[in-house]
Amino acid sequence: MESSHAHRKDEHVSLAQKYYNAAHTVDEFDQVRIIHRSFPEKSIDDISLQTCLNKNLILDTPFYIEAMTGGSDKTEQLNRQLAFLAAKHHLAMASGSQSIALNDANAISSFKIIREENPTGIIFANLSAETSVTRANQAIEMLAANALELHVNVAQELTMPEGSRTFRWLNNIEKLVNQLTVPIIVKEVGFGMDKQTLQQLVDVGVKYVNVSGRGGTNFAQIENRRNHDNQFDDLKSWGQTTPESLLEAQQFNQKLTIFASGGISSPVDVIKSGILGANAVGVAGYFLHVLMTDGIDALDTVLSNWETEVQRLLLLCGVNKFQELPSVPYVLSAELNNYTKQRGLKRL
Ligand SMILES: Cc1cc2nc3c(=O)[nH]c(=O)nc-3n(C[C@H](O)[C@H](O)[C@H](O)COP(=O)(O)O)c2cc1C
Repeated sequence: MESSHAHRKDEHVSLAQKYYNAAHTVDEFDQVRIIHRSFPEKSIDDISLQTCLNKNLILDTPFYIEAMTGGSDKTEQLNRQLAFLAAKHHLAMASGSQSIALNDANAISSFKIIREENPTGIIFANLSAETSVTRANQAIEMLAANALELHVNVAQELTMPEGSRTFRWLNNIEKLVNQLTVPIIVKEVGFGMDKQTLQQLVDVGVKYVNVSGRGGTNFAQIENRRNHDNQFDDLKSWGQTTPESLLEAQQFNQKLTIFASGGISSPVDVIKSGILGANAVGVAGYFLHVLMTDGIDALDTVLSNWETEVQRLLLLCGVNKFQELPSVPYVLSAELNNYTKQRGLKRL
């Protein structure tokens, strides 16, 4: 029999799908406008999609499949399909949290399938920031992972009836960064980050951060649907949006490699994330939605289209590669500009 943890994962997947449209009424990236220029003076052959995060972590494409699934029979199927497409399109892929498999050996195969389908691709393991070094090494070995994502999800835990109520993570993150051999990416789950959070991560030696902001999958909403004891309806708009989080992160561009995620649902969102300073861009809810609504062939087509469009948009922006995007001029909406002023953020 599957564990209650595996059952919770199935509930998250079905609620993310059920409320996908309700959670995506606004594209927060509409608050960022790219300034068009007429003379790129280059050809499509000059444009590379490759993104170098460090010498051992080179992504063939700047967008990737973000952490979601694994742990149950249903999510093993999703992992198989996502990993097959990740291999086909040379996309990096993050696993869903592997704690289910560390607590129940029967669930291991639902994660290992990610590596079996994609023997040579870039794969990120995923665990909570409270994990021990031993468990982190087991999760990395399970996937022969190239990096480990540590998720920080205080807003989600507090809305879960069975969630944690104690959050002392920073010392543990420091220990993990010092003792593990793969890059550690500290990652939110759709509530965003601010400059103080980022400074705290820099202070404990973190080099890779995924700001995962509000604007897409909303775990306050999802947990609210599961939680029949308490209601947290008023947390629907808790947290910083992904553009706000990226603006908070700009002053750390020499110290941190920044990943964006949260509400990315088009190639233009990928490009705008790069302009705001992201080095790579994770997509969770949108890819899951396409897969569950229209099937694997539809997602295959979407991924091909995104690759083509991102390359053409780089040309349209007049840059040769994703990491040159911060040089592209942009304008913020009055609301987002007001946010940067009140927060005392210097725009780069
Ligand atoms: C069904 C589902 C399950 C998720 N499970 C995890 C997880 O296990 N670990 C994690 O770090 N993030 C998890 N996430 C969060 C995503 O990785 C991402 O941070 C968040 O959904 C925002 O991105 P999006 O708007 O593209 O969905 C999950 C998201 C979804 C939709």
